Formats: sequence, C-alpha cells, structure tokens
Amino acid sequence: MLPTIAWENGEVVMIDQRKLPSREVYVRCRSGRDVAKAIRTMVIRGAPAIGVAAAMGVALELRRSTTTGTTQLATEFYRTCDLLAATRPTAVNLFWAIERMKRVFAGAMRAGQSTAELQATIDAEAARIHDEDVANCRALGRHGVEIMPDEGRVLTHCNAGALATGGYGSALGVVRAAVEAGKRVAVYADETRPFLQGARLTAWELVRDGIDTTVITDGMVGSLMRSGQVDVVVVGADRIAANGDVANKIGTYTVAVLAREHDVPFYVAAPVSTIDLSTPDGSGIPIEERDPREVTHLGSLQLTPEGAKIWNPAFDITPARFVAGIITEHGICRSPFAESLTAVCETEGSEETGGRRHSASAKASADTPKLAVRSHSASEGGEAGEA
Ligand code: MRU
Repeated sequence: MLPTIAWENGEVVMIDQRKLPSREVYVRCRSGRDVAKAIRTMVIRGAPAIGVAAAMGVALELRRSTTTGTTQLATEFYRTCDLLAATRPTAVNLFWAIERMKRVFAGAMRAGQSTAELQATIDAEAARIHDEDVANCRALGRHGVEIMPDEGRVLTHCNAGALATGGYGSALGVVRAAVEAGKRVAVYADETRPFLQGARLTAWELVRDGIDTTVITDGMVGSLMRSGQVDVVVVGADRIAANGDVANKIGTYTVAVLAREHDVPFYVAAPVSTIDLSTPDGSGIPIEERDPREVTHLGSLQLTPEGAKIWNPAFDITPARFVAGIITEHGICRSPFAESLTAVCETEGSEETGGRRHSASAKASADTPKLAVRSHSASEGGEAGEA
C-alpha cells in the first residue's frame, strides 16, 4: 500500500504530494505546528488523509511535551487542536477527527489519567482513526464493486485515492476493489486544474497499480462523454451535507452536470466521517479560496498577464439531484438522501468512537427505515436520473 503518512522514529512522515510524480520525497513533522503547515501547504491533502494527519499531529504534540502537569498538557492539547482546525475549512474529516480526539481526551481527563497515560490514550486514538480509515475505504470499495461495469470505463476527478486517505482510497478504492474482483476497468483521470491532483496523483497511483489510465484535461470531459466513452463516474467528497449535496474538488459540479446530460451514472464514494448532518445543504458548506498563484503560475512559469484578476475556489457543490448514490463503508445511500444519510450515520459507532449521532439526526432516524441504505446490483443501472 502507498505510504501516505506514517510514524517513524517518533516523527510523523508524509510523502510530499506537491512533488509527485516527478520526485518521491518525504516531509518529516516534529510538532503539531509542522503537521498544520503540511496540511495548509498541501504536502498532504484529501479529506480523510487530512483528518488522519490532524489526529497524528495532536498525538505528536503530546508526545513531545515535557510537562508533568495534566492541566498544562490539556492547554497544549487544545492549543494544537485549534491550530490544526484553522488549516483548511472545507474537508469536514478534519473537524470530525479533532472533535473525536477532544472527546477521548476529555474522557481520559475525567478518568484521572496521568500525563503519560493521556499521551498513550491520544496516541492510540490517532492510530485507531488511521486504521479505521483504511478499513472503511476497503469496505466502501467492496460495496462499490456492484456499480462498476464488468468491463468498462470510469471517469474520476481530482485524487480520491490512497494518497487522499489513510490508504487504499475512496473513489479509487472502488476502482481497486473492482479490479480485485476481476472486473476489467479502465480509468479516465481529469487533470484537475489548478493543483493537478488528477494528472499528477491519480495517474501516478493507478499506473503504479498497473490499472489502465488515460489523463484528460478538464475541458475534454464533455466531448469524452458525448462520444460514449464513459460508463460511470466515481468521485470523492470533502463534505456531504444532510440533504446529499456534495462538496468536492472544483470541477466536480461540471462533471456531474455533463454526466446527467449524457445519462452516465454519477457516484460519490466517501467514508461516513465525510457526512456532515449538522449542515442542512450545500449552501452551508464553507468553500476554501486558495492562493491566486496556483492559477497564475505553473511552478515558476507565469501563465497569466499581470493585472488579470483571479478567482480560485478549491471546491464546488454538486446538488444531490445529480448524485446516483453515495458509496459508504456501510452500503450505498440513495435518494432521498436526507433519510439514507441519517440512517448510515446511525449505524456508525458510539459517542466514544466518534459516532455521528446528534440531536437532529437522532430524531430523523426514529422514522427512517434502515432499508433506505441499501445495496443494489449493477443491472439496475441508469441511476443518474434517479435522484
Ligand atoms: O484540495 P484537495 O486536494 O485536498 O481536494 C481533495 C478532493 O477534493 C478529494 O476529491 C476529496 O478530498 C476526497 S479524497 C478521498
């Protein structure tokens, strides 16, 4: 499996995703501040991977603490949580992971743990978040196999692969699981301007795995679909609102609209940690705007004339009506998403392990038939018009 992020000699080590595919170099983080910087500058990116990194950043900061007082340790813990929470606003997995760490820390404080015990507790929780994310990707990949053709072409946008998660990938997890199940799948990877996650990262991962991969520029998607060369679209997500609206990399909305126009089913693959039931719809999801330089320059080469204004939103919202299904580790959620997403969150673990329960969802679940989250067979097809 790809080495997205790992512990090494007491440091958090990440493959530098800014340098791929031309150079495989690693960034070593020695503090929570280092991890926050790595997230902000996109050394590590992708919603689930950002959540894993934040959890490890908190654990790292506690590991290096020399204090013997639990009150001082708590101060350092909450300060690091704040620092990490300020890195990127859209990926909800970041806040989910930090909240989960806070819940566990508060419980351990209440239990009267010593500083050494607190450090061990937080360390173990970070490892659990990482391990669970990989397991969730594998599970959602298995659920996704049924929507993949036995032989066909899947289009994906950005990178929702091993690099964007604890490992294995969400959208690419579905591709990998389909290939492991013996399906003959070829992938079209959108280049994904301006950071080029598709051209650089998705293509790198898939080529390494020996999966048939073709890179296209973002503007080619319409023509590709019109010529009948895409059987299904699978993308990841940074945050999924309670009604099924999906925030994902800028350009995803365009792909979804084109998929609808050409009767291509459009699926989203994401772990339950990406679902945000506290945000009713996509209009409440904060969209990160990034440095104009990502648009004006390619490395040191300036592409745009001085004086041209730049708009650089990192994400867009795809309305739920364009989404055929949301593939999670517990099954595929279908429209009506308000019900199916609530149900899938309710099957998630307890409060201690980061359950997604909150008052709004708990109420809704009372009248939500569990069947709202269901598997379906590929032969049902034509889901793009279903929502
Ligand atoms: O800006 P990025 O590279 O962090 O954006 C990543 C995406 O948009 C991914 O599609 C999303 O996080 C899902 S990753 C499994």
